[in-house]
Formats: sequence, C-alpha cells, structure tokens
Amino acid sequence: MKRYEALAEKIEEMIQSGVLTGGDKAPSIRQASVQHGVSPSTVFQAYYLLESRGLIRARERSGYYVNENIKNLLPEPGPTRPAVLSTNVKVSDLVFSVLEAMRVTDIAQLGSAFPAPELFPLQKLAQSLARANRYSDPSSRGANLTPGNEDLRRAIALRYMTAGVSVSADDIIITDGALEGLSLALQAITKPGDVIAIESPGFYAALQMIERLNLKAIEIPMDPNEGLDLSALEDAINNHGIRACWCMTNFQNPLGSSTPEEKKKTLVSLLAKYEIPLIEDDVYGELYFGSKYPRPAKTFDTQGLVLHCSSFSKSLAPGYRIGWILPGRYYESVRRAKLMTTLSASVPAQLALADYLQQGSYDRHLRKLRQALESQQAQMVKAIGAYFPAGCKVTRPKGGYFLWVELPLSVNSLELYRQSLAHSINLAPGPIFSSTTNYDHCIRLNYGQVSGEIEEAIKTIGTLAHELIVDK
Ligand SMILES: Cc1ncc(COP(=O)(O)O)c(C=O)c1O
Repeated sequence: MKRYEALAEKIEEMIQSGVLTGGDKAPSIRQASVQHGVSPSTVFQAYYLLESRGLIRARERSGYYVNENIKNLLPEPGPTRPAVLSTNVKVSDLVFSVLEAMRVTDIAQLGSAFPAPELFPLQKLAQSLARANRYSDPSSRGANLTPGNEDLRRAIALRYMTAGVSVSADDIIITDGALEGLSLALQAITKPGDVIAIESPGFYAALQMIERLNLKAIEIPMDPNEGLDLSALEDAINNHGIRACWCMTNFQNPLGSSTPEEKKKTLVSLLAKYEIPLIEDDVYGELYFGSKYPRPAKTFDTQGLVLHCSSFSKSLAPGYRIGWILPGRYYESVRRAKLMTTLSASVPAQLALADYLQQGSYDRHLRKLRQALESQQAQMVKAIGAYFPAGCKVTRPKGGYFLWVELPLSVNSLELYRQSLAHSINLAPGPIFSSTTNYDHCIRLNYGQVSGEIEEAIKTIGTLAHELIVDK
C-alpha cells in the first residue's frame, strides 16, 4: 500500500468510527503532514482519494471538511447526573481487586491506566539511566533531595514556559509520581470531615484518598465533552461548605472530557471568589491530538490557589515514578510533608529523566505517541460500533487513551468485567469511578494497548455484553 493510501485509510477509519463527523474540518495540509510525518503532497493525494470516495470535500479558501451527509452511528453519552450530596466514600475493596488484575501480564490490558510499554522509548530511557548512573557525582546526591534535581525542575519549567504557562523551577516539587503530589496536596489543605468536590465519574484514586483521610465527597455532574458543570459546583459550594475541588481539566479519567480554556478561567475565578483551592490533576495534558497543547487551569491562577500535579508516567516513563506538583501558596507545607514522608523522589530516576529531556527527543516521541493513540482510538470506536449491542454510547476524547462506554442499562458492568477476565481481557468497570450506583452499566476501555489485539478483545467483550442484556 502506498503512503497516501495508508493515510487515507487512517482518516477514513476516523470518519467511519465517528472520531471525525459530518461537517468537521479535516486537519490542514500542514497539520496533517506534521502529525503523520508525511510530505504535504502525500496529504494532498490522500485528501484527493478521500474526496473521490465522497468522504470529504474542499471548501474554497477554507480547507477540507467531512461530508455533511455522513451520520455518526454511535452516539456519545450525555451529561452525567449524580445527586449532589456529600457522602462518606467506600470503594477501596473493589478498586483493589481491579488493580490486582492489572498485575497479570498475559491478558489484554483494556482496564489498565497506562499505555502499552511498546509505545515508550525504552531503549533511550535505559541509555539515559546508564549515563546518569555513570556520570553522576555521589557527593551531590543531597542536592537532589526535595524539592528535587534542579536540571529536571528547569526542564519541566521550560516546557510550561514554552506553552505560555508562567512557571519557574523554584515553583516545582518533584514527587513519586503524580499520585504522591495529589496526596500531599489533599493532606496540605484538608482535615477529617471536610467536604471535597470531585468529578462524577472521576478518578478512583481521588475516592480512595478521600476515604483514607476521612473526608467526604460531593460528586459534581460532568459534561463528557467540556468537563465539570460549574453551576452545579457553585450550588454545592453554597450548600455544602466545600473545602477543596479536585478535577482534571484535560482528558479527564474516565470520560476524556477537555475543559475549554475560557471555562478553565471561569473555574479558577469561581473558586478564587470563595477562596477554595483547586487540586488539578493533569497527567494526560501532553497527550492531545490537535496541534496545540491545552494549557491547564494553573495558567490562570493569580492567587496561588491551584495545586497542579502531573508526571511522566503516562507520556514517557511509567515505572520511573517521577511526577511533580506546583503547589502555589501551599509550597512550604507540601515541601515539608514530602520531606517528612519519603525525603525525596528516587535520585537515579530524576537524573535519568533530566538527561533524557536534555537529549531533545521528547517532542518527537510525543508526536509518535499521540499519532498512535489517535489512530487506535478510531480503531477501537469502529470495533465497538461493529460488535457491541445496539444502544451503546461512546465518548470521542480529543486526547489521552480512554473511551467511556455506556452500555444498555440492564448490563451489569461488574459481571461483564468478571466474565471478560475469564477470557483474559481486563476492563475498568464503572462502579470504581464513583461512590454512587450511577455507572453500574458503564465501562472504561484503554485504547493505548497493543493495536493488533484491540479488535479481537472488543469482539469478545461485545459478545459477552450481548449475553448479559436482561430483557425487562
Ligand atoms: C487521572 C490520574 N491521575 C494520576 C494518576 C497517577 O499518576 P502517576 O502514575 O504519575 O502517579 C493516574 C494513573 O493512573 C491517573 O489516571
């Protein structure tokens, strides 16, 4: 197959699966050429081919658009509607059993929270680790304790600065993955009994930490495209005395929603009006599919109230456990808490990542990773359309690697999870993402896995889901 035919096939898959829908603008020739690593003339040839098949059409001086007549067969889910009540949380047993299944290596890991190892530059990372160990000066180890290695903090700050987010190396504390940053943030600003506003559905670790620290949660409704419902959040602030808000503004786990920039600004100023800190989890921010990095809510933080957490776990080096936090006005209490709990993040891992970032190939790796994830999303959505029961709804995130699927109401996702495991396929059942029963018929699927395994795994899950439909 020629290059332009392969590119045309990829884009056709995105159209058929509804990732690009009728009326959407196709990427510009320049964007598509950078994104897919092909020449502009290859993109032109691919677009001519798609035009001849009636899938896209050129509009004068405006570029190519997906033909309006192409209907999206798989609908997307609507906004979520949890009851906005403060509750004690109890999800841990279930979450631990799901995490246990992620430790098994010879199954299709559609329930995992990480992409497949094949998608990471493992050899280059190993070289960086070897160099870091060979050349590092053991007597300087103390200098790498919390807040962390300065070269690494500078390299992270530079990435933010280049994207238009004002951050200096002195604002950053290196942590053991984002998870530790999130935990330190929550501990720095709460005491037992406080109420935390979280997304519904939301990241299970937020629920676990809330449970562990004896806090209460209020689940806020979400729009699967645009994130938190801000008027529900303001109602909750007025009625429940919220102590902090925890959310993901980019490619939320599990819905994949991306909060638009204007809405991020509004969120930050709404919380600042009530002096409420925002814990922002941005571990998927680098995995965007368009041409522009989606700046986090931290960009708009003028009061130091946003505690922004991220890491390299999802985009570069999962096992290294290197993350960071920008704690704003809570810097000193977070720094001391980190010193008191683990002293510092692993020094060899910090040095290795500082070395890797200095080599200059991170952006090239990210471009490849994003491209693989975007085309695997299309592949998975198409397979869901072919094999899942009628009536399923599926999200189409513009980044990250999760799809959220609403199955027919009578399908019990925990049963589907158990039966899929028996067929050597892992998936993440809806109930781990909430302390309500609202998502008992939903699942989260990871499309960042081995591309060749996706269709077969989806076919099996689809067959099991058909069998679980209960006629009422
Ligand atoms: C939403 C979200 N935040 C944070 C984390 C944890 O990141 P790390 O592995 O860097 O601790 C995960 C990993 O599963 C995640 O999905």
